[in-house]
Amino acid sequence: MGLSKAVIPAAGLGTRFLPATKAIPKELLPVVDVPAIQYVVAEAAAAGLHDVLIVTGHGKDAIADHFDQTPELERLLAAKGDAARLEAVRIPAQLAHIHTVRQGNPRGLGHAVGCARDHVGNEPFAVLLGDDLIDERDPLLRSMLAVRQLLGGSVVTLMPVPREQIGLYGSAGVAPIAPGLAPQVGLADGDVLRVEKLIEKPAPQQALSDFAVIGRYVLHPAVFDVIERTPPGVGGEIQLTDAIGALTALPADRGGGVHGVVFKGRRYDTGDKLDYLKAVVRLACRHPELGADFSDWLTGFVGDKAR
Ligand code: UTP
Repeated sequence: MGLSKAVIPAAGLGTRFLPATKAIPKELLPVVDVPAIQYVVAEAAAAGLHDVLIVTGHGKDAIADHFDQTPELERLLAAKGDAARLEAVRIPAQLAHIHTVRQGNPRGLGHAVGCARDHVGNEPFAVLLGDDLIDERDPLLRSMLAVRQLLGGSVVTLMPVPREQIGLYGSAGVAPIAPGLAPQVGLADGDVLRVEKLIEKPAPQQALSDFAVIGRYVLHPAVFDVIERTPPGVGGEIQLTDAIGALTALPADRGGGVHGVVFKGRRYDTGDKLDYLKAVVRLACRHPELGADFSDWLTGFVGDKAR
């Protein structure tokens, strides 16, 4: 059965980006002229996932507004003959069928995913973090969906990171899979691994490998029962990593089994100030209207010792 549903958790408090995120959801911070979460919804739609559930919460209503129609604004732009901006304001509502559910109390990413249970039902589904951008030139989600179709169970993303940074992520203990399987979905042997264990935010000496789990997942619906049994973990939050870790120990006929797709592409955590700035610069350099001028200015700026 093909997957059709994506869940985008966007109910976190965004404390790393305060004060900007005091009244504005971090997922709506613009990366050039498009809010971060719109890139994420576009990525889901490009991978064929046209049913998108955004998990929102207190102070996050503007996210639903962004993906709604705006008849008054559209009438105004149409009357002015401003076709380009009219198209730009229509796109968010046309990308996918957008639904929302509220996470009344942001008790962690695992809890946020649990809030999607009624909408998702008993189907496998994708999770894309609402502040985590994957460059559109790196079609990660499609590869993950293909791996899920080939191997069943759940699929996570494994990004190699320097050992001193692993404590910011979940760390994965991995084992090779049979040679010849990954090439069946267009990936190299070694780019699909079996995940045997996961630890959220380990100390460097506890890390299971240099593979960090980042914000794209394809999950078996068995994860919902597991989340309900998952106690608060690191930071007192119900961690998605802990729930997926429990899936590694379940037999396949009960929804267990986890594989990881190795990702070495471009990814930005827009909830982190430095990564956010990198994302803005990278996308500004590629922007159809601004790219050439911005790149010229940036070259001069970098070379200007007096800056
Ligand atoms: P983060 O850990 O980056 O979000 O979660 P946060 O808690 O908002 O971050 P800081 O540390 O306070 O800055 C990754 C994604 O999961 C969502 C966030 O909105 C983000 O898109 N999330 C996190 C939820 O939806 N609910 C939660 O309880 C926690």
